[in-house]
Amino acid sequence: MINYGFDAELLSSKTVVITGAGRGIGLEVAKAAFGCGANVIAHSGRVGTAQKLSGITSSVAEADLSQDAGQQKFIEFVKSNTSKVDVLINNAGTMMGRFPADEITDDQYSQLIALNQTSVVKITSALIPLLRAANGASIVNTVSISAITGGSPGSSIYSASKAFVSTYTKALARELAPDKIRANAVSPGTIATDFHKRYSSQEKLEKTRTSVPLQRLGAPEDCSSAYIFFASEKLSGYITGQILEVNGGQLIC
Ligand SMILES: NC(=O)c1ccc[n+]([C@@H]2O[C@H](COP(=O)([O-])OP(=O)(O)OC[C@H]3O[C@@H](n4cnc5c(N)ncnc54)[C@H](OP(=O)(O)O)[C@@H]3O)[C@@H](O)[C@H]2O)c1
Repeated sequence: MINYGFDAELLSSKTVVITGAGRGIGLEVAKAAFGCGANVIAHSGRVGTAQKLSGITSSVAEADLSQDAGQQKFIEFVKSNTSKVDVLINNAGTMMGRFPADEITDDQYSQLIALNQTSVVKITSALIPLLRAANGASIVNTVSISAITGGSPGSSIYSASKAFVSTYTKALARELAPDKIRANAVSPGTIATDFHKRYSSQEKLEKTRTSVPLQRLGAPEDCSSAYIFFASEKLSGYITGQILEVNGGQLIC
């Protein structure tokens, strides 16, 4: 377990709900939250990664969040496991492929929106009563550097869906502030996870690496501390409606 230098009690008595925690950034965030004393309720992924969370939580569900049935399944799972949510981390997402703008099919478009956009809205809406019940809660969404830059060829709808979540986060921050619910987002740059094994060539990644001022690609561990920061009332209690770019300086504006 990585020691982030955070207090092991930082999130004690807090219930943290996280999606897409079976690998990559989400897995690292789940580990970090557990290391800070949180009770973690996780969605691991579609199928086959739940065991990676053993030792961190036994409250783990698998569900395809691009499907209405999967979204409902996870919402019911959370409701049956807790009466309050202190921290909701909407992290599950992916590009699903590189789809040229003149070739993308209706099905590809709908699935991308359903996963990256609709699932975030549905899970958040359904869990607002449990977030209110925490009496001081935090929503942390995962967006992307591509929400600002537009991404690279074949990622137009993915990038636009992350821009939607970015704006949605800001809107939630204003609307839910009276309920003592903060809303922020972490925006990863190029982070070395399975995501890029699927969608980026080694050559493209190396070109990106040399363009990053810090001269390296990010690791999931580079992102997880940003999530813990937003999760903690103690560390970020006066911060809401913000998007934190974690990209080694890849985007400075
Ligand atoms: N890596 C980057 O450079 C980068 C940059 C910007 C933003 N992001 C965002 O960061 C988040 C985490 O990505 P990552 O890099 O950690 O990628 P990853 O290792 O591929 O993990 C993605 C997670 O999302 C889940 N997921 C994907 N499709 C799903 C579906 N249809 N239903 C339910 N769960 C699904 C995956 O589950 P399965 O195991 O079932 O696939 C997995 O748990 C994503 O929202 C991604 O868009 C990543």
